[in-house]
Amino acid sequence: MSLSSEEHPRIVVDVVIDDHAEEKTLEQLREALLEDPPRLPSRHFYDDRGSDLFEQICELPEYYQTRTEHKLLEDIAPRLIELTGAERLVELGSGAATKTRVILDAMRAAGCLRSFVPMDVSEGIVRRVAQELVEEYPRLEVHAVIGSFLEDLSSLPQGHKELVAFLGGTIGNLKPEPHAREFLSNLARAMGSGEYLLLGADLIKNRRLLHAAYNDSQGITAEFNLNILEVTNRRFDANFELGQWLHRAFFNEDEHRIEMHLEARTDLEFTVAAVGVTRRVAAGDTVMTEISTKYDQQKLEALLACSGFELVEFFTDPDQLFSLSLARTV
Ligand code: AVJ
Repeated sequence: MSLSSEEHPRIVVDVVIDDHAEEKTLEQLREALLEDPPRLPSRHFYDDRGSDLFEQICELPEYYQTRTEHKLLEDIAPRLIELTGAERLVELGSGAATKTRVILDAMRAAGCLRSFVPMDVSEGIVRRVAQELVEEYPRLEVHAVIGSFLEDLSSLPQGHKELVAFLGGTIGNLKPEPHAREFLSNLARAMGSGEYLLLGADLIKNRRLLHAAYNDSQGITAEFNLNILEVTNRRFDANFELGQWLHRAFFNEDEHRIEMHLEARTDLEFTVAAVGVTRRVAAGDTVMTEISTKYDQQKLEALLACSGFELVEFFTDPDQLFSLSLARTV
C-alpha cells in the first residue's frame, strides 16, 4: 500500500489558496479583456494540454532556454551551495521539479540538505513530486505549499539558511515595472534578510534566435498559443473559433520583450460569457497572450536592487543565452 502524502512523516502540505481566488481570477480576466488591445492572462495557457505542449516546446531545437538553464545549473550547483550554505531549498512554481533535483543533489553532496519547500498551484503535481522526493532523498523533509507565487508569498513558511529558486525565466512574463519589481519586493519581505535567491532570466540576444524560439518550424508554439482560446472557451464560457486566429510572436525592440499575440483573420466578434465581455475586432487586430521580457546583467542588477536584493554573482552559459542571478536580501 502506498502512503498518501499526509500520512508520510516527512511530508507536510499547506493549502493556502484563498476563497477569493476564483473571484480574483474572473476580475483579472475581465480587466485584461477590456484593455487595448485585449489581453488574455498567460496563466490560462496551462491546462493539461497546454502543460503538455509547453513540455514539447522545452524539447524543441529552437527553444534553447530550458536545456541551457539546466546545463548551467549543473555547472554552478556546487558553487551555489558553497556560496550560500543553504540547508533548505524553496522553489516557486516548482512543477515537476526536474531542475530542482540538480540543486538538491548538490546540497546532498555537500552534506547540508535538510528540507525542500515546493510552491505551486497544481496540487496533484506537488503531492506526487513530494512523494517521489522523500523516497529519493532519505532524510529530506518536504513542506509543500499549494498556492500562487503571485498572491500567496506571505504564506511561505519562515526559513533560515534558505535558497529560494525562481527558475525557467518566468520573471520575464511580468512587466519589469511595476509587476516584476512588486513581485520581487514581496518575495524579499517574505524571506527575511541575508537569505538567497536564485533567479533564472532569459537574455537579450541575436534577434533571429529569439524570433525562432517563439516561431518554431513544427508549429508547437502556435498550437500552445491557440490553446489558450480553447481553455478560455471551456473555463469561462467563451466562443472563440480557433480557425479564425493566427499565431504571432515578435520581439518588441522598445520593451526588450517577445510578445505573443493571436491575430484575427477577419473582422469578428467574441464573447467571454463568464465575465460578461463582448468585443469586436477587425481583421489584423490582435489579442495579446504573453510577454517574455529579455534582460541583461545590468538590467537584472537594477531590478534586484530596487526590490531589496543585492546581486552576489551572475552566471551565464558560454553563448550568453540564459542567466542565473544569485542575489541576497539586504
Ligand atoms: C515559461 C514563461 C518562460 O516565456 O519563454 C514558451 C513560455 N511561451 N514559448 C517563455 C513560452 C512560448 C516561457 N516561460
